[in-house]
Order: sequence, then structure tokens, then C-alpha cells
Amino acid sequence: MSLFDVYPLFDMTPAFAKDVFVYDTNEVEYLDLYGGHAVISIGHSHPHYVQRISEQLQKIGFYSNAIQNPLQHELATKLGKLSKCSNYQLFFCNSGAEANENALKLASFYTGKKKVLAFKNSFHGRTSAAVAATDNPNIIAPINAQQEVDFVALGDIEKVEDILKEGKTCAVIIEHIQGVGGLDEMPTAFYTAVAKICKKYNTLFIADEVQSGFGRTGDFFAFQKHGIMPDIISMAKGMGNGFPVGGILIHPDLKPSYGMLGTTFGGNHLACAATLAVLEILQKEGLMQHACEMSAYFVEKAQTLPKLKTIKGRGLMLGLEFDFPIAALRKTLIYQHHIFTGSSKNPNLLRILPPLTIQKKHIDHFMDALHQEL
Ligand SMILES: Cc1ncc(COP(=O)(O)O)c(C=O)c1O
Repeated sequence: MSLFDVYPLFDMTPAFAKDVFVYDTNEVEYLDLYGGHAVISIGHSHPHYVQRISEQLQKIGFYSNAIQNPLQHELATKLGKLSKCSNYQLFFCNSGAEANENALKLASFYTGKKKVLAFKNSFHGRTSAAVAATDNPNIIAPINAQQEVDFVALGDIEKVEDILKEGKTCAVIIEHIQGVGGLDEMPTAFYTAVAKICKKYNTLFIADEVQSGFGRTGDFFAFQKHGIMPDIISMAKGMGNGFPVGGILIHPDLKPSYGMLGTTFGGNHLACAATLAVLEILQKEGLMQHACEMSAYFVEKAQTLPKLKTIKGRGLMLGLEFDFPIAALRKTLIYQHHIFTGSSKNPNLLRILPPLTIQKKHIDHFMDALHQEL
């Protein structure tokens, strides 16, 4: 049987990985400044993470959501404390798209409305409502196009109000730092204005923290810089450090009822063990503070790069925008320097999404490689 060929692949086969490094089948070491697409938060194969999942697997890996699972409560308490969102309610699922799908569905249940407002250059996933709210017509099939979504330019607050005023929009969904779109973000005034307009017109405010959450920006969630309280917060990627787990945090005003949302795999024992290990390491190793420090160091070093237009993003969700398309440079970095980086919708932007455990020496190594190539 052949694989359904939907991914253009780089010619590299990872065999094992440790902290910020991935090793190929010949044991060649690659510096991971991509984190498997912002997924690796606490570093590859962290001993505590491996131990916690292994020990859980020895006991029980999975049972359905129809039974008691104390790990879910332990996780909710720990997540609440660390994220400073302890008054929110937690619903588990398995991926970022699924988190957004559930967030949009909940918003529609709660408001009784069905239109969505999303922003230009957004990416929210590849499933039904999530892909419809993604600004990329190439990945929207006719079956998804039935979803009614208005796309507004990031920052266009008048347009947001004009649309919500019509009273048909159940949710505004927003990445506080756009990931796939190219690291754009707005000043605080924009986000607070959107939140206010949402309240006024009974529209829920969904913060898509799938990529920016779990400490990646130096805050637990990227929206926290702006002092707002979203109605729903979606999470995935860094949450499980590679174990497929996602979730939404739901404002206490939104009341649950049996059957409203559901999942077979979401919140299973292994997923909880993986996420608990991530939270424990984030806290014990002070990785959010560390992300801020490494970010400052990275930005300082990057200032001296030739051909650089801007440095975008926050914490360890960063982008280097050059005055030329970066596709060839990215390949050279992988094949000649053995450094993984990411791309985005902006062809001139190199995306940097390393494990939060990255050290100054790794950043120095990357900067040396860039200086050589530029
Ligand atoms: C902001 C954002 N939302 C949602 C998703 C979809 O997540 P998943 O691929 O886990 O479905 C992504 C994936 O890149 C993302 O960056």
C-alpha cells in the first residue's frame, strides 16, 4: 500500500531525538529550531516525560470518558494554576483543529447563531468549521464552504463591528500572534476593542492558542499580554510535547449539559500523563522565564544579520523577515548546516519555533550559520 501523498518531504529520516537535537539514521545531529511545527515544548525525550508516560502505560493507557478519570482533574487543577485560568472549565480533545471545532460549536450552541468572523491570513485547522475559518481557499473543499465565515483584515475594528452588528455571528476567532500566516500581531487596543464589541453583540471571543499557548511566547497564553479574558481558549501542540492532545478552556459563564460535546480519545490516561509531565517540567525548569531570556538573546543577536527587514513574534515564537524569499536558505540550513527552521505564508519569513529548553550556544550556532549564508 502506498501513502496518500499530500506532503512534500525533506530528505531526512529522524531516528531518535534528545532535548533540542534530532538525529537521523546515520546519527547525524540536527538542531531543532522548528520543534516539529511548534509542538516540542519541553524538549525531545525529556526523562521525566518519558518516565511519566511509561509508568502510566504500565497501569492503564485508555478507557472511555464514561468512567471516572482522576488524572483529568489533577491536570485541570495544575493547568488552572500555571495558566492563571483556574476559574475556566476544561474540555479535552486530540488536536488543534478539533479544539477549534469544539470552540466554534460551543459558541454556536451558546449564542444560537452560526456565522464566524475570522481574520485574513488566519490558520485554525483542516476540519469542517476550523478550515472554513482558515484564510486559504486551496484547503477548503465544497463541503466546508457551506460554513458562513467573514474574513476581516487584522486591525480593521470598524469592519468587525459592522459585521457583528448584524447579529448573526456566533464567534470571533483569533490567533493573538498569527502562526502559519507569518507572525503578525496587533497592539493591545485592537484586542480589547474586539473583546468589547463581542460582549456588546453577544458573540463569543475565541483565542486560538494552539500554537502560541503552553508557554511558547513567555506568557502561558499569548493573549495574556493584553489583559483580556476570552470566552474560549483552544490549545494543542505544546500541550503534549508530541503526544496528540488538545483542549479548550471555557469561561465559567458558559454552562455545560450532557452530550453537548464529546470524544472517544480526548483526555485519555496517556494524554493526561503526557500533559501533566509537560506542566511539571514547564514549572520546575522555569521554562516560560527561560523563553523570555532566550528570546531577548535571539533578538539581540539577530539585529546584526544582513538583509534582515524585521524580527517578528514574541518569546520563542519568532520570525526573521528577510528582503528575499527564504525557501532556498531554509534548505541550505537543513542540508548543509543541519538546522531545522520553519516557513510561513509570507515567503520572506523564516520561522523559529524551538523547544523552550534552547540555550544561548544553540542560538549562537544558528546565527553563525546565517552569517555564513547571508
Ligand atoms: C493557530 C493554529 N490553530 C490550529 C491549528 C491546527 O492544529 P492541528 O494541526 O493540530 O489540527 C494549527 C496548526 O498549525 C495552528 O497553528
